[in-house]
Amino acid sequence: MSLEQATIVLRAARAVAVLTGAGISADSGLPTFRGARGGLWERFRPESLATPEAFARDPALVWAWYQWRRALAARAQPNPAHFALVTLERAIPAFTLVTQNVDGLHRRAGSERVIALHGELMRDRCSGCGRESAATVAPELADAPRERIDPPRCADCGAPLRPAVVWFGEALPDGAMERAAEAAALAEVLLVVGTSQVVYPAASLVPLARRAGARVIVVNPEQSPGDVDLQLTGRAADLLPPLVHGAFGA
Ligand code: OAD
Repeated sequence: MSLEQATIVLRAARAVAVLTGAGISADSGLPTFRGARGGLWERFRPESLATPEAFARDPALVWAWYQWRRALAARAQPNPAHFALVTLERAIPAFTLVTQNVDGLHRRAGSERVIALHGELMRDRCSGCGRESAATVAPELADAPRERIDPPRCADCGAPLRPAVVWFGEALPDGAMERAAEAAALAEVLLVVGTSQVVYPAASLVPLARRAGARVIVVNPEQSPGDVDLQLTGRAADLLPPLVHGAFGA
């Protein structure tokens, strides 16, 4: 599939859904979880860091890891791929951006119709009463991560705070998957950017959209799993700007 063919498909679409994953933020310098060049889950075990059981067992270990990731995300800037999706949103009347990313870069770039399936890194949630608040970031941890940091305690109930992200085994935010599935089912084009498509239920949006008749355009340096009709092989920051600007002008 050439970029030119994908441009033609995108230009004809009146309803577009986008599914993004960690790969779109790789060009902003944030590590992915999996992939050819290694990812976080090669160095860290998800079950030690991204489950409610891990937090119950060793809250300071989990909190320190998320404080490191928050510092990295705070330092990162949206890249041309994030900005191209803002342009796309403004050009398409029926547009939904579904992201598995918790880094907040889509919103910082200016995207508005965002469904954050896996929650938000930059927010805290009380593990006791559920109250949410803005997270505090310690920028120096980006370069000098610590192995353990005790999580702060909730001002209301005294329970430890946790990041407001979805951990393995937890439910997605209320209604998020339903709204994402509706957008995927209505889309004429589903653009799948920088995701390994192995984590469910997010990955199920791809076959769902195809069954409903959407053309699926994948942007990824690696070959996508499953059936894909249009694969653009390369980095999101290189491919999304010419794709979107080719379809809708600058
Ligand atoms: P992964 O880390 O699983 O996959 C990243 C994908 O991005 C891979 O397919 C890479 O080939 C691709 N990639 C790498 N660099 C890229 C670039 N410059 N441009 C485009 N693509 C690039 O990330 P996700 O699919 O987002 O969940 O992972 C899904 C979920 O698994 C995450 O949300 C997280 C993780 O465990 C939770 O924490 C619940």
